[in-house]
Amino acid sequence: AGVLRGVIALDGPSGTGKTTAARGLATRLGSGYLDTGAMYRVIALAVLRAGADPADPAAVLAVAERTELTVGTDPAGVRVLLDGEDVAVAIRGGDVDHAVSPVSAVPEVRARLVDEQRRIIAEVLAAQGGIVVDGRDIGTVVAPDAPLKVFLTASPEARAARRSAEHGATGVESTVESVRAAVDRRDRLDSTRAASPLRAAEDAVALDTSDLDREQVITALTGLARERGLLD
Ligand code: DC
Repeated sequence: AGVLRGVIALDGPSGTGKTTAARGLATRLGSGYLDTGAMYRVIALAVLRAGADPADPAAVLAVAERTELTVGTDPAGVRVLLDGEDVAVAIRGGDVDHAVSPVSAVPEVRARLVDEQRRIIAEVLAAQGGIVVDGRDIGTVVAPDAPLKVFLTASPEARAARRSAEHGATGVESTVESVRAAVDRRDRLDSTRAASPLRAAEDAVALDTSDLDREQVITALTGLARERGLLD
């Protein structure tokens, strides 16, 4: 398909197939991959493990300041470490799903992670030339100069069905209704927070994934990258 040059910013709410598509795209284009949501999830897990209140911004920041987090950029196997421990599975738990929105709403936590994300992106660009970055504020805040920004959307039904299937795959028991309620709740929090709310960049291309499978989303994204002249 060609090798990616530059940054592809992939934003949108959960359940749009964003993370699966971003990893698949990075694999197809031989680029790096950064899951910024995983970084917020590591902090949320650290907050829970410390017994701190996710709704207390000062407590959350104190935990964030003393947490050492590592997120790998290889799309074939994403390494996620919290103080050196592999937490790739633990950060997908329902307790973290619940705690991560208030944690990611703390401006100082965002500032720290955005700095770290920009550092990782620069490092991967220097080493490999290209990176797909998955998040909520990549096109608006983290990489506003990205040559391709895509904002993924999907119907509430499609999103709840995807989340429910993901939970099924990881053994978390859930119904489509309870997942839909959780998805709605997190969206509302993510979209209405004061610091970098979830929204599409003005120059983002919108892609509705409701009726697309993983391969079709990856193919659509590859086509956009080719149109922009980002593939060598
Ligand atoms: O994509 P995800 O579900 O793993 O993201 C987890 C949470 O982190 C989500 O509720 C929103 C937040 N997040 C964010 O605020 N900014 C990002 N760039 C990525 C995720």
